[in-house]
Amino acid sequence: MQPPGPTTDPATEDSRGQRWRMIGGSANNAQLADAGAAWWHDAVIYECHLPSFRDGNGDGIGDLDGLVASLDYLGSTLGIDAIWTGPFYRSPLLDQGFDVSDYTDVEPTFGTLDTFDRLICEAHARGLRIIIDYIPNHTSDQHPWFVESRSSLMNPKRHWYVWRDPAPGGGVPNNWMSEAGGSVWEWDDQTGQYYLHSHLKEQPDLNWRTADVRTTMLDVLRFWLGRGADGIRIDVAHMLMKDPGFRDNPSAPEGNDNMFDLQHPDFGIQLHIHDRRHPDTHEVLAQIRAVVDEYPGTVTIAEIEAMPWEDWARYYGSAMDGMHLPFPFRLLETPWRADLLRFELEALYESMPDGGWPTIALGNHDRVRLATRLGAAQARVAAVMLLTLAATPCLLYGDELGLIEQAVPIARQRDYFARATGGVTRDPTRTPMPWNGGPNAGFSTAGESDLWLPVAHNADDVNVDVQLTNPASFLSMYRDLLRLRTASSALRRGKIAFLPGTSSRDSVLAYLRTSPIDQKIVALNLVDAPTAVRVPSAGTVAISTTARGAGETVGPVLRLAANEAVVIDVPKELRHEDH
Ligand code: NOJ
Ligand code: CA
Repeated sequence: MQPPGPTTDPATEDSRGQRWRMIGGSANNAQLADAGAAWWHDAVIYECHLPSFRDGNGDGIGDLDGLVASLDYLGSTLGIDAIWTGPFYRSPLLDQGFDVSDYTDVEPTFGTLDTFDRLICEAHARGLRIIIDYIPNHTSDQHPWFVESRSSLMNPKRHWYVWRDPAPGGGVPNNWMSEAGGSVWEWDDQTGQYYLHSHLKEQPDLNWRTADVRTTMLDVLRFWLGRGADGIRIDVAHMLMKDPGFRDNPSAPEGNDNMFDLQHPDFGIQLHIHDRRHPDTHEVLAQIRAVVDEYPGTVTIAEIEAMPWEDWARYYGSAMDGMHLPFPFRLLETPWRADLLRFELEALYESMPDGGWPTIALGNHDRVRLATRLGAAQARVAAVMLLTLAATPCLLYGDELGLIEQAVPIARQRDYFARATGGVTRDPTRTPMPWNGGPNAGFSTAGESDLWLPVAHNADDVNVDVQLTNPASFLSMYRDLLRLRTASSALRRGKIAFLPGTSSRDSVLAYLRTSPIDQKIVALNLVDAPTAVRVPSAGTVAISTTARGAGETVGPVLRLAANEAVVIDVPKELRHEDH
């Protein structure tokens, strides 16, 4: 499928919404409604970036105790269902914990195994689920496995990592470029070979073609799932298997830069077809899934880069024996335009296999903050979209406050990806959660200079406490949306049908959500100008992102203010049962 061009469907009429033609309602909708009863179909997941969330012991760095102390906020105040923790394993913390030096212990900066057990216990007592990070592609170079592996060519762990001789004429074995900049190959003087690191040179890639690596890493899963974790988010799941022949990647003469991804520009000079996404990846993921299935009720979320939806759908597994929820980066990388978003969403639903269920995210710790990318008014519109699609929403900490990027001076930066010449820092997205108007925005009692990262400059106005007292705040809107979603079977599990765009001014993304007992219309005005559209029926406003009060009767000609998103409750007698 090609993305839509500037002109659109001739069967529709103009932006005044004279006539809408219902689309959607494909076979996949039946699958959506029947996708089973797993808890994560109904859940809203909250991505917590541990070092930035809440400091429990006053050392300036967020930790597991701080997360435990935040459970009441997350559960009863905000209303989410599951927490994706971020890494907390032993680590030198060059990549916020994605550089693991011991997979079965907690980094002392974040707590202990006992603290983890307490987190599980306290979360479960509140009906909250805990999803942990599983980081199988690479370890830290400080991991004892790598220390052994690099010690000699004959070491039994040599093949736990990817070692190669220099190319015949000397130099690196092939042309693969790292996401953190430069070659993926690092020379090791002691043994006269290169090792592969897809990210920092301090993050050597494990060799998943070595049987012992698989066995050991699958046992890591059992360790944490046995301790009560409710699921895993698999870091760079698409990278586990590479081309066994290590063929060069083709160059990308016109560039392959991804304006949405905060990767080193070096990464964009080639097409990454051999260093990742090898077909064998799916067999490994099925093995991981089989272990996860030993713990009934647990979920697998696969972090996979943006790719065509047909390829994305393969991560569900050929017999639905792969990932439960492949991450939809393609949506995060879609320009904020109604026609483009509609096109991508329809393609997502059309590509989804039988029994599949998607997750959706619009923010992530590796990307520019939503409220910075879209501006505050459209970030509110995005919140409505996030919480009303037929998918499990995944919300980045702080997005519920409309947190924006905060510049971080070089001396305070934590992200080692930024240290290579031309490197890009992701720290501005990851600044501390602002809890209140007190010192350090309530994040920590440490001195300011000891904080993991500086707090946002506007934290006096943008923090949990202040927003709780304002019914028009971001946080109040998120709470309302979360409650509406929880109460609405149409929003949680219903079918989805997209309303078509218009030929002249396609500013509105609108869709219908329908369950046997409930129907909602969602209309999102993605531009900073008022508009009007025709929706399938009249109804009452359940939520609006602007000053419009709930309960107002609207439609079928729906006038939307600039930057307004609404959810409309359709009364029983007006419902469109055929959609
Ligand atoms: C993806 C993670 O989201 C990112 O933060 C990290 O730097 C890389 N994987 C490497 O683990
Ligand atoms: Ca701490």
